[in-house]
Amino acid sequence: MMMIEVILFGFFQTCACAAGVADVVLSCNLVEEGAGMGRMGPAFARSPATLVFRDVAVTLDESLEALTPFVPPSVPDPDHILFEAKAVSSVEIPHIEVLLHADCNDQEVMCEISHYTPHGSEGSSSPAYFMVSLDVEGVQFSTSLILQTLVIEKNHTTLVQPKLGLPLSQAGTLLTEVIFMVFSHITSVSAPLRGDVLLHCGFKQHETLLMQEVSIEWRLQHRGKGRRMLEMRTGMDNADGNTVVYSDRRDLRMDATQVVSEGNVSVTLNKLKVSDEGTYICTVSIGRFHAQQVIKLHVHQPPSVSLSEEKLVLKTESPQTLSCHCSKYYPLDAQMEWFYLSPTATEHVVFPNQGSLSSHRQHADGTFSLSSHLAVPPTVSPGTKIICMVSHPALDTPLSVSVVVQSPQPDSYQWILGFLIITVIFFYQVMK
Ligand SMILES: *[C@@H]1O[C@H](CO)[C@@H](O)[C@H](O)[C@H]1NC(C)=O
Ligand SMILES: *[C@@H]1O[C@H](CO)[C@@H](O)[C@H](O)[C@H]1NC(C)=O
Repeated sequence: MMMIEVILFGFFQTCACAAGVADVVLSCNLVEEGAGMGRMGPAFARSPATLVFRDVAVTLDESLEALTPFVPPSVPDPDHILFEAKAVSSVEIPHIEVLLHADCNDQEVMCEISHYTPHGSEGSSSPAYFMVSLDVEGVQFSTSLILQTLVIEKNHTTLVQPKLGLPLSQAGTLLTEVIFMVFSHITSVSAPLRGDVLLHCGFKQHETLLMQEVSIEWRLQHRGKGRRMLEMRTGMDNADGNTVVYSDRRDLRMDATQVVSEGNVSVTLNKLKVSDEGTYICTVSIGRFHAQQVIKLHVHQPPSVSLSEEKLVLKTESPQTLSCHCSKYYPLDAQMEWFYLSPTATEHVVFPNQGSLSSHRQHADGTFSLSSHLAVPPTVSPGTKIICMVSHPALDTPLSVSVVVQSPQPDSYQWILGFLIITVIFFYQVMK
């Protein structure tokens, strides 16, 4: 379990909630490609590191009320790297409160830091760059950001981080600034077949990258196959000069002005098909930097359930077949179960024989159908309700359909009716 600390100061009350600035302190792992090769390819070494976002603007409830800024340890630990990210208003992390609340809600925050080499700057070591990936367990929050180290005036008293060979601030921290980030408020989404879904992706960049060209790519990865769905290039200073280089779907569009003014590179998929399911990768490149977000899309369609018979009149000697049809659902995992409810009972019971399942049938639109055939023995007493219950991931509660068994004696009613008519005629004659 990673721990987060929140340290608030400069707190000012505005309403029932409060706005203020806080230092967000995250426990991270610094991932480095180790020397030599492991059995599974290059070996990666992980070492603990701390990342502090300074002076983050937050809105919080009164439950968080510590008022001192983060203070680094007076004696820096050479094995534990302390990354300090200076507040820059143009690259504030959206919904950063999620990180603060994760601690209260016992959700794990995944924070991984690794070296980053901007395109075309191989071999140069100053400034240094780091890629940070932030995810919160069970929360739709994901951010990838690039930190750039700040230049420190070196003199003979300047400490150098032994592992990274980089100069530290007087406080013993590695001073950085966020230069670029790509984020999404959706990490996994399930949407109905033929419905629409918005795949959210956004980016923010430091003022120094304002005039750069930006390119956006959306890819779909599914069962080992990848496909480029949309690619767009535009100048950040001149959105009119944009060109959509490639679009795989007619309905897939992106508004260049929205890209430039809001950093919104979300796409909407309309009339979802089963083949739209998969992992979507949103990659944004700006100047020499690029970062991405991954969104998993699941398509679902609940089954429609029906029985073969509206009335079930039992024959006296042979079992009667009752079929339950579960049609046009997605994904594949549907479960069918038979129950019965005796006329005198209050709770239904699992049917002793569970019928035989047909094989799954797949329709042209990718959905499935399945039937279960139950042999209802003649011993079942009239008035018994026979229930077919279907569970499927697209259903909140199982769906059930039922039929009530009717008694197999239509002849006796005719006898009673005949007897009544004869009696009436008899009395009529007698009265006359
Ligand atoms: C070394 O540089 C730091 C700032 O990085 C400064 O505060 C300090 O006074 C300098 N020390 C000397 C001896 O120049
Ligand atoms: C991003 O743009 C889409 C339309 O393409 C819109 O539906 C969505 O609300 C926008 N998101 C944000 C955060 O502005």
